[in-house]
Amino acid sequence: SILIVDFGSQVTQLIARRVREAGVYSEIAPFQSAAAAFERMKPAGVILSGGPASVLDEGSPRIPQEILESGLPLFGICYGQQALMEQLGGTVERGNSGEFGEAFIDIADRCSLFDAVWREGERHQVWMSHGDKVTALAPGFRPVASSAGAPFAVIADDARRIYAMQFHPEVVHTPDGGKLLANFVRHVCGLSGDWTMAEFRQTKIAEIREQVGTGRVICGLSGGVDSAVAAVLIHEAIGDQLTCVFVDHGLMRAGEADQVVSLFRGHYNIPLVHVNAETLFLSGLAGVTDPEAKRKFIGKTFIEVFESEAKKIGGAEFLAQGTLYPDVIESVSFTGGPSVTIKSHHNVGGLPERMNMKLVEPLRELFKDEVRDLGRELGLPDIFVGRHPFPGPGLAIRIPGEVTKERCDILRKADAIYLEEIRNAGLYDAIWQAFAVLLPVRSVGVMGDGRTYDSVLALRAVTSTDGMTAQAFEFPGGFLPRVATRVINEVKGVNRVTYDYTSKPPGTIEWE
Ligand code: XMP
Repeated sequence: SILIVDFGSQVTQLIARRVREAGVYSEIAPFQSAAAAFERMKPAGVILSGGPASVLDEGSPRIPQEILESGLPLFGICYGQQALMEQLGGTVERGNSGEFGEAFIDIADRCSLFDAVWREGERHQVWMSHGDKVTALAPGFRPVASSAGAPFAVIADDARRIYAMQFHPEVVHTPDGGKLLANFVRHVCGLSGDWTMAEFRQTKIAEIREQVGTGRVICGLSGGVDSAVAAVLIHEAIGDQLTCVFVDHGLMRAGEADQVVSLFRGHYNIPLVHVNAETLFLSGLAGVTDPEAKRKFIGKTFIEVFESEAKKIGGAEFLAQGTLYPDVIESVSFTGGPSVTIKSHHNVGGLPERMNMKLVEPLRELFKDEVRDLGRELGLPDIFVGRHPFPGPGLAIRIPGEVTKERCDILRKADAIYLEEIRNAGLYDAIWQAFAVLLPVRSVGVMGDGRTYDSVLALRAVTSTDGMTAQAFEFPGGFLPRVATRVINEVKGVNRVTYDYTSKPPGTIEWE
């Protein structure tokens, strides 16, 4: 296996993902507990992540000495490179400008990381994000690639099998980065690269059994893919020690609540409590317009309803959740890094402490598409597994301004038409997420001979691989006008339709 030491970069999980793509098992440990993880895992190699700190600052994170002196292959990325140089006798200096974004590096020499990927004399695109830079190498290292801003863009110490780079190989903007990481884990560390999702399933099943023993588990279903996959996996591990509770907040898309119920009761025969709490949620949302206030209310109410159902069931000490990696990174700063809270995701935090329950979160390190692979591996129907992601707070965060039953119904109708057209055009699977947003803006229109003064609907569709970055989807000509016409004709209350072209960043996928 590979140990990834996390120095708090926003993209550390992408390193783990690239390593999985290379068919190798890895675990991430925050730098504070990396020494213990190293001891326990006995990995074949260690990757040191980027991070927001400066090695020049007092008290900034260091690589544990055990790892540095282990003689194992090491791979430092950005902060990881700077920490290696600082600790092995090189020099790091504060840059006064830094390099951020796309950059080009010139390959100067051979290096095991470059095997069958890059050759001397070539120039390649990479993604830089650094202020400090290495200005003198530690003994034993040689530069193998350089950029305009980073003379030591890639450095190698072949004898000790230590490699380091200033840029980020794990992000998609370094197109060959995954291959460099694959070379490290397979060729340098000598791992076979035969790890698969089937093994992940078995590993997790064993872990769940080990964690839960003969205890009882309650799983909150949101109606989405993540919690469903988590529940099915856990059911496979411990059978009817699991009870699922589906808190139906009435903020789902058309028909989706029924789908979940029939899948669990009919297809899998997993014990399920279905709570219809629409009235409770809508009455509490009355008058609430602030996005975070909506999210917090929904999260809190979800917890209260769930808690009271759990009490009725009784006797469970474990709580299962379908938390994915992007939920974790965007919700909390759990590595000590500065990842700021962008939105408070409703499926993380609060509940277990309050209910005094232990968490079972088997999907915590996965990205959405990996959860889908796992879902297929577990036999969930394609139509369900392939479903676009849907946020925990549901349609409430797609209705900027006040959420009412009437506005939910308008949005549900419009959204269903949009998705139907997308499916009919064969575009559903090419899109990461498509949805409509009902704006708190009215515009003037003319229908027949009359004046209308109704709501504006925004359509959004994005492509993405992990939800952390996204681009607006370009529909073929004629598609959007067709949807606009249908929506305006068929949905009372909407008289204008627009399309949202914002990418993430700087936008987020959802509007709230
Ligand atoms: P943003 O809007 O932050 O969304 O770019 C990234 C992805 O996360 C989904 N999302 C959520 N998922 N609970 C969830 O389970 C939430 O509270 C939540 N908020 C956003 C969003 O739909 C997108 O796929």
